[in-house]
Amino acid sequence: MTILPILTLPDPILRKVSEPVERVDDELRQLMDDMLETMYAAPGVGLAAVQVGVPRRLVVLDVSKDEEQDGQLFMTNPEIVALGPETRLHEEGCLSIPEVLLEIERPSSVTVRYLDRLGEFTELTAEGLLATAIQHEINHLNGKLIIDFLSPLKRDMLVRRFKKQARSTEAP
Ligand code: NI
Repeated sequence: MTILPILTLPDPILRKVSEPVERVDDELRQLMDDMLETMYAAPGVGLAAVQVGVPRRLVVLDVSKDEEQDGQLFMTNPEIVALGPETRLHEEGCLSIPEVLLEIERPSSVTVRYLDRLGEFTELTAEGLLATAIQHEINHLNGKLIIDFLSPLKRDMLVRRFKKQARSTEAP
């Protein structure tokens, strides 16, 4: 397995809408494994393929360290089919926006339909941290980031800070 470089703000690829995956095959499973390894090393609880520069609709998740359940999840072409009526506040981070934590309110339960690691149709209803993480990762597939929950003013300030940082770490 390979640890892949994670794209960070303001990389424009992060704003791309990811394309559907045509086939769950060994090549895709290799990418799933590399993404999982990359996520664990970061460390994080979820990663979308677009974050490693592959704009395809694939996410990997594992929130088990925090909640001791579920374990590894591989979701290809995930679609949210239902959101619960209650909401949940969580301080979210994103591997593509290092050292930023934002308190975000989202539905506390979600039902998602996807192709699993073997390419089988699967439906899962999740609550708590997993529900938050699934929504966060599916946002990535649509080019949406946690900073989009901020007011335009705060978001622009943050983006400007990341642009400045990116310029200062560029090779001379
Ligand atoms: Ni993220």
